[in-house]
This record gives sequence, structure tokens and C-alpha cells, in this order.
Amino acid sequence: MKALILSGGKGTRLRPLTYTGAKQLVPVANKPILWYGIESLVAAGITEIGIVVSPETGPEIELKTGPGDRFGASITYIHQQSPDGLAHAVKIAQPFLGDSPFVMYLGDNLIQDQLLEFVLDFQKKPLSAIIMLKQVKNPTAFGVAQISPTGSVINLVEKPKNPPSNLALVGVYLFSAAIHDAIAQIRPSARGELEITDAIQQLITNKQAVEAKELSGWWLDTGKKDDLLEANRIILDEYLTEPQILGDVKEGSKISGRVVVGKGSQLINCTVRGPVIIGENCVLENCFVGSYTSIANDVTMSDIEIDHSVVLKGANISGIQRRIVDSLVGERAKLTVTNHRPKALRFMIGDDSTIELT
Ligand code: G1P
Repeated sequence: MKALILSGGKGTRLRPLTYTGAKQLVPVANKPILWYGIESLVAAGITEIGIVVSPETGPEIELKTGPGDRFGASITYIHQQSPDGLAHAVKIAQPFLGDSPFVMYLGDNLIQDQLLEFVLDFQKKPLSAIIMLKQVKNPTAFGVAQISPTGSVINLVEKPKNPPSNLALVGVYLFSAAIHDAIAQIRPSARGELEITDAIQQLITNKQAVEAKELSGWWLDTGKKDDLLEANRIILDEYLTEPQILGDVKEGSKISGRVVVGKGSQLINCTVRGPVIIGENCVLENCFVGSYTSIANDVTMSDIEIDHSVVLKGANISGIQRRIVDSLVGERAKLTVTNHRPKALRFMIGDDSTIELT
């Protein structure tokens, strides 16, 4: 069994963060979303992994993720010249995939359920595909499945105006080589893309066996701001199990709960309530850092309160008199208050931005 991770796309829904970087590399609990996907594939015993990348973000993904040895995997990068759809990505990956069955994983998706049980099930049965479903409040934003009372898939439709159910297609699929013939039979959708949803529908039309599984655990599609904060909350809860203080926590600072402070970081007169992760070489002075906050490397913060937020590498925040909540602060962003008492602040600040409230 091989795996294909789709990591192209422009990340328009996470702009401005994704003007300068790949959405799959936006960190959740200080680790790129994409890497959780790789780790869960490796945990299911799949180590031959192809990653489809776009010309815009491919070099950054390749540079940061590397050939796979850090994950115990072998990674092949596959270049998709234009964003022509998820099924198109499978098509161009065919030389890598050959006739092998494979797990297809969207690089900005995360699921709690272990992949191994699906892989074992797929290997036992003569199936062409396993799809995963999860009930959502906004099915029009996803591929949607209509399921019969006995649990078989009746049909699938991509981003329907009138959804036949609230069961969204999760961005993790298992396919046999039959998917390649199905892809060869479909045409681009209204948005001009070869949709994987249409290809799976084609399998059903061709009377191939497609099984649907409703996920019991959480599913995160981190392509949007609030989902990213939610992913950060869930991942900090689940993966940050032990406190680990490698940096220098000076007298006068209070740390409680599961808190990680990376090496080279300094905390001066700060209160931190976990779960919180603080990266390396940060300087925090007179700060309150509340639960579910991730602070990347090289961040400087002084005289602020921050809670339930993600701060990316090299950002600088100081003197904000109100608590910063539910915020995403981009790389090297600078946020200072020199005067004034603002009533409330809610931010989505892109890389290299400077905000001054004077
Ligand atoms: C894609 C799929 C859609 C699926 C979603 C899951 O949508 O086309 O069927 O429900 O991923 O994240 P996209 O993110 O390309 O809009």
C-alpha cells in the first residue's frame, strides 16, 4: 500500500498567511499540519509516500519536509503544474502509484481515527474505495454523500447547493487501481477541476464496490482560520501530554499545567497556563499566556495577555492593553500599542504585517 498526499492548491481561504507560504505548512502546536498526516500514514505501516505539490509552494514543502527519513518514510515529490483538481493530481501521480492500492490524504486535513483499521479492512475486502464521512453543519462547503438505510453509498456530489444529507466527505480516502479508470471517464466540474468526488461517483456508476465509514473521532479541515484555531486546541489537548521546560523561566514567572518552553527561550515575570507550547529562542516579559496558545520560535512578547491563539515565527507583540483572543498572528508580524484603550481586538494578521494602534 502506498500513500498520496495532496499538498498543492493556493490556500485562498487562509490568506493572507498563505500569500507567502503553503497552507499545509501552517503550524498546529508548532508543527506543520502536513507532518501529522505523514506521521499517521507511517503509524499505519505506509512508508512509500508521494506528495503532490504546486510550483508556488513545492520548493518550501520539499525543503522543510525533506526526503522522509525523519519520519521513517520515503517521500517522492510530484509536481502539479496547475491546480486542476484532486483527481487530476491522482492522474499525474500514476507513474508513482502504478497499480498499487493507496491512501489519498489531503494535506490540510487531520483525523483522530487511526488509519490502520481502515487499511486492514480495505485489504480484507474486494473494495475499489473506502470513503470517510462526518456529519457537518455546513455540507454545502464539502463533497456530500447520500447513504441508503443499509449503509451503502447511493451517490456523491461535490459542494451541492441542496445537500442530500449532512454527511461530508473527509479528505482521506482508500483506493484500488480502479480509480485510475474512473478518473479517465470524468470531465472537469463547473469550477473547472477534475473532482475526486466525481471519480468516486464514477466508481459507483461502474458498479464498483465503494464502502463508506462514518468517523467516530474528530476531523479537522484546517484550511480556514477558525478551523486552524480549533485544530490547535485539539492537538494541544491530545499530543501535549507532559510539561517540558528547556528554556529559562526566571523568578517571578508562574507556570501551571502542561507547558512546553523550548530551548533558548526566556520567560520574565510571566504567567502561563497550559496547555501551551512556546518554541525556541523566544523572549516573553510581563505576559499572561492562556490555555490553547502556540507560540513559534523567535517570538518576542511584552506586556500582553494572550489566550487561545497561534503566533507564528518571529512575531513581535507588545503593549496591547486588552487580552488578545482567538487570533492568528503571521510570521514576523509586529503588533504594538503606543496610546489609546481599544475595546476589543480580533486579528488575522498576515506575514510581514505591522499594526500600530496609536
Ligand atoms: C475537497 C473535496 C471535498 C472534501 C474536502 C475535505 O474540497 O473536493 O469533497 O469534502 O476536500 O476537506 P476542497 O478543500 O478542495 O474545497
